[in-house]
Amino acid sequence: MGRKFFVGGNWKCNGTTEDVKKIVSTLNAGELPSTDIVEVVVSPPFVFLSQVKSELRPEIQVAAQNCWVKKGGAFTGEVSAEMLANLGVPWVILGHSERRALLNETNEFVGDKVAYALSQGLKVIACVGETLEQREAGTTMEVVAAQTKAIADKISSWDNVVLAYEPVWAIGTGKVASPAQAQEVHAGLRKWFEEKISAEVAAKTRIIYGGSVSGSNCRELAGQTDVDGFLVGGASLKPEFIDIIKAAE
Ligand code: G3P
Repeated sequence: MGRKFFVGGNWKCNGTTEDVKKIVSTLNAGELPSTDIVEVVVSPPFVFLSQVKSELRPEIQVAAQNCWVKKGGAFTGEVSAEMLANLGVPWVILGHSERRALLNETNEFVGDKVAYALSQGLKVIACVGETLEQREAGTTMEVVAAQTKAIADKISSWDNVVLAYEPVWAIGTGKVASPAQAQEVHAGLRKWFEEKISAEVAAKTRIIYGGSVSGSNCRELAGQTDVDGFLVGGASLKPEFIDIIKAAE
């Protein structure tokens, strides 16, 4: 059973209402491969979610970039998973390395968030990835396995999870992982699923790559056996995102 190619666009903390209008109209005008072969999700900042959801063509879904770890309440500044579900936002990105590094989100906290978001009916793009220091120390697999295990420990099904491997050194740096480097980690994660969870989860779970993906490097990366799609940052704000989606073909 094949894994449908998945392309996510993480807009991060970028954009004005006018920028968002432009990006949406570019996406609406673009010629996209059929939804039978690619699943496309864009993730605007919270404040633009409703605008994007209502103006974007229905084949493209939306994701929030974060949500709170438990039921909403007295948590100033947070957005709960229930709110996203109530708004009809189907996806949420959790565990992005920027939040892990800048907001001190631990593996355990990310695991709790993933579990809570799933319990509220959201689908999750869960991010893992090593720093340059960890790669140079030869601990890449150890790091991403520990991040994945912290999620696995808290959830009972991977059906609604896409795992995004995003090496921190490749994010926003223009220094993309080579196809071989990406394939090596993706294959390692799939093996981890097979050994620690099940052969079925290993075969079904989509493992996507993120980190300086562009219109010019996406096809070679997409050609790797265990690369099931992308999580795109900077290039998802540009018309180039359409070319990246087409790498699914
Ligand atoms: O989540 C996507 C991401 O962190 C990659 O960003 O700008 O390197 O494509 P970028």
